Amino acid sequence: MSISPDVPSRRRYVKVRPVRPDDFPGIIALCERTYPGAPPWSAAQLARHLEIFPEGQLVAVDRGHEVVGYAASLIVFWDDYRMESRWKEFTDGGMFTNHDPGRGRTLYGAEVMVHPEVRGSGVGGRLYEARRELAERLGLLRIRAGARLRNYHKYAAQMGAEEYVRRVVRRSLRDPTLSFQINRGFHVLAVVPGYLKFDPESLGWAAVIEWLNPAVATAADYAAVPPW
Ligand SMILES: CC(C)(COP(=O)(O)OP(=O)(O)OC[C@H]1O[C@@H](n2cnc3c(N)ncnc32)[C@H](O)[C@@H]1OP(=O)(O)O)[C@@H](O)C(=O)NCCC(=O)NCCS
Repeated sequence: MSISPDVPSRRRYVKVRPVRPDDFPGIIALCERTYPGAPPWSAAQLARHLEIFPEGQLVAVDRGHEVVGYAASLIVFWDDYRMESRWKEFTDGGMFTNHDPGRGRTLYGAEVMVHPEVRGSGVGGRLYEARRELAERLGLLRIRAGARLRNYHKYAAQMGAEEYVRRVVRRSLRDPTLSFQINRGFHVLAVVPGYLKFDPESLGWAAVIEWLNPAVATAADYAAVPPW
């Protein structure tokens, strides 16, 4: 991949737009780069997502039209799941056939990734902004996702995953994924094991995170947020 040179600024120029079929090779390459050794999205899965929920599938492309970021979402009816449900269950094995816009009020963040060479320049933030705008446009109550605890493997010998999350929330530790999400208005609901199958960095641990849509959420929704 050759990433276009950009202006020397922390913010990188990208365009965030809905996924098109000609983006599939770029998304698959980005996935292989992000999760080496894990099975990447397949073209069949990506095509299914577009059939099921096209507005929920976003890419960030740079000046050279390279895919440098990707975010995939679906709408779920939360009562069909448990807090401890795995990524595989929330996404129906990555096919999104459980997408339920009739009953669901929760936009589920199934994936977000940014090319390692451009991380830290605002691309992930742009994808999160677009995802939040989608939830607002659709009048959904919230966004939820499993935040893989990416740096947990470095601390696992010293502390449990809950303690790790507590420290990230209180900002005495920084996790490249969870800190990014907390900085974008998400809070932690729970810490769960076995969320992802192939993830040596998180050792499978994830924080279930939530952003509440202020235009829709009630005082009771905010009151139900557990203290961390
Ligand atoms: C999580 C992820 C999508 C963030 O994307 P990004 O483009 O780096 O996000 P941004 O640049 O908008 O924000 C990154 C934050 O890290 C900080 N940062 C500083 N230096 C950085 C660096 N070298 N690399 C990454 N982030 C850096 C940024 O300042 C920013 O801080 P802020 O939260 O205080 O604003 C990206 O790290 C990624 O693809 N990770 C691997 C896949 C993954 O774990 N996905 C989440 C699944 S739950």
